[in-house]
Amino acid sequence: MSPGGIEQVEGLVRRCWTMTGILRDMLAGEEVVGPGQTDLSAIFEELRSRFFHQAQVRKIRLEFPSWTARVLGEPVQLREALANLIANALRWSDKKEGVVTVRCGPGGTPGDEKDNYKSHEGKEVCIEVEDNGPGIPPDVLSRLFEPFVKGPTTPGRPAGTGLGLFFCKTLIEGCGGTIRAVTNPGLGTCFSITLSRVP
Ligand SMILES: Nc1ncnc2c1ncn2[C@@H]1O[C@H](COP(=O)(O)OP(=O)(O)O)[C@@H](O)[C@H]1O
Ligand SMILES: [Mg+2]
Repeated sequence: MSPGGIEQVEGLVRRCWTMTGILRDMLAGEEVVGPGQTDLSAIFEELRSRFFHQAQVRKIRLEFPSWTARVLGEPVQLREALANLIANALRWSDKKEGVVTVRCGPGGTPGDEKDNYKSHEGKEVCIEVEDNGPGIPPDVLSRLFEPFVKGPTTPGRPAGTGLGLFFCKTLIEGCGGTIRAVTNPGLGTCFSITLSRVP
């Protein structure tokens, strides 16, 4: 195996341990998010390099934001929550010109009414992970953040655990944030996360 390959496997094993630890705490009903703070620029850099190869092989354009901020929440938990959303977006991408865009901005959800967006300026940070994939089927959407909910498997897309989004919601809400999904069949899906900004 090449040195790069060994590094990738080592990274994978490390992340498995991290996820196992977080899941164990969650199942034991323990607090999974501490009072930490996260520099989103470091998280985005790490995720960019983690998913670079996968996106390249699948010919999917993966974009990260240039604007970032500091937010409330533990770095490892926030990183794994975002990693789940990016992994899903890449995995379900079915377009010839697949695009996965990670956005980050001040305020509430950028798509919200202007006033609402402005009134939150400086207090909140909104992160979006958007894809132009197939969208989420209605029967999955209605229970999207519940454990073990997963969509139909298709060739080339191995079955998941159905725990990823449950995991995301628990971690994001543990940071005092919110997560929601907007999906358009055939056009794509956008997950929006709101977190408290740290000055
Ligand atoms: N970006 C996405 N595009 C289309 N479907 C998605 C996307 N993200 C999640 N889904 C659907 O939601 C289900 C649940 O996702 P998740 O909780 O991450 O579980 P898993 O990835 O293990 O199947 C998936 O099985 C899939 O049907
Ligand atoms: Mg998943």
